[in-house]
Amino acid sequence: MALANRSIGYDEVEARDLRFNLDKDSVPRYWMNNDPWSTSFFNSILAAVPDGERWVMQCVRQSLTRLQDESVRKAGIAFIKQEHYHAREHDDMNNALIAQGVPLDVVERSFKRIRGTLERLTPPDMHLSMMAAFEHFTATFAAVFIDNPDMLDNSDKKVAAMLYWHFVEETEHKSVTFDVFQDAVGSYPQRVAGMLIASAIFLPMVEGHMLYLLYKEKQLLNWRSMLNCLKLQVGPKGLLTRLFAGHYFPYYLPSFHPWDDDNRSQIRKWKEAFNATGDTAKAYEAFLHSAGTKGAGVKAALAA
Ligand SMILES: [Fe+2]
Ligand SMILES: [Fe+2]
Repeated sequence: MALANRSIGYDEVEARDLRFNLDKDSVPRYWMNNDPWSTSFFNSILAAVPDGERWVMQCVRQSLTRLQDESVRKAGIAFIKQEHYHAREHDDMNNALIAQGVPLDVVERSFKRIRGTLERLTPPDMHLSMMAAFEHFTATFAAVFIDNPDMLDNSDKKVAAMLYWHFVEETEHKSVTFDVFQDAVGSYPQRVAGMLIASAIFLPMVEGHMLYLLYKEKQLLNWRSMLNCLKLQVGPKGLLTRLFAGHYFPYYLPSFHPWDDDNRSQIRKWKEAFNATGDTAKAYEAFLHSAGTKGAGVKAALAA
């Protein structure tokens, strides 16, 4: 197969078995900037994380015997370990909110139905293509937060520490599913088709689930919060604006590879602080104050 693997960063895919012990008493209901709309937007994404992680793990596991490149196979195994821990900690986060009455269980079931339907309607090779596409979304999402660490500056510190651990590890393994797809399938038209399907589903699903959560929270008519969330998503410096302006479209280039955007140096500060202290909160703080980050974040998005 036409393998585009550049093996960058494989040696950095490190599964850290960390427990954040998030529960209903430690996660504020509006953990994102104390803002209902912004929190519901993120919750609608986070609700899909545990099942999404287990699905990508399953896709990689099932393709291990098809891989010709031993380094990709090894990276795939390390990837599975990382995603296993992510799913476990996000289960805790989602359960903490469910225990407070936020209906993330309904959103999770909705996501599972959509994912199951996609699986039934498409062949296994397309599963690998969609897996690579969804992992590109998570890696680019992480890249935006890594570029702007103060995005979570006004958010709950324990949640922010957990999310930055996840962002760092998503960055470490950002080429793995792409390389698995390239090695096992290697078809450019199928890669594009997988991203088109993932894109058609991603935003409508996230926004639809967000509106459902806001309806159940009786916050749909909270105009001030809605404005905050709109700016946060699609303002001049918003999350989706940055994502689609900087990271999304290169995926369609025939020569694209996730490490075309080599942002390993940006996560090094987190890793140094974590290795020195074993403390994700200190690692996030070190990252937040490290030189070289752009530091525009939520404040800039809301001020724009
Ligand atoms: Fe993950
Ligand atoms: Fe991932």
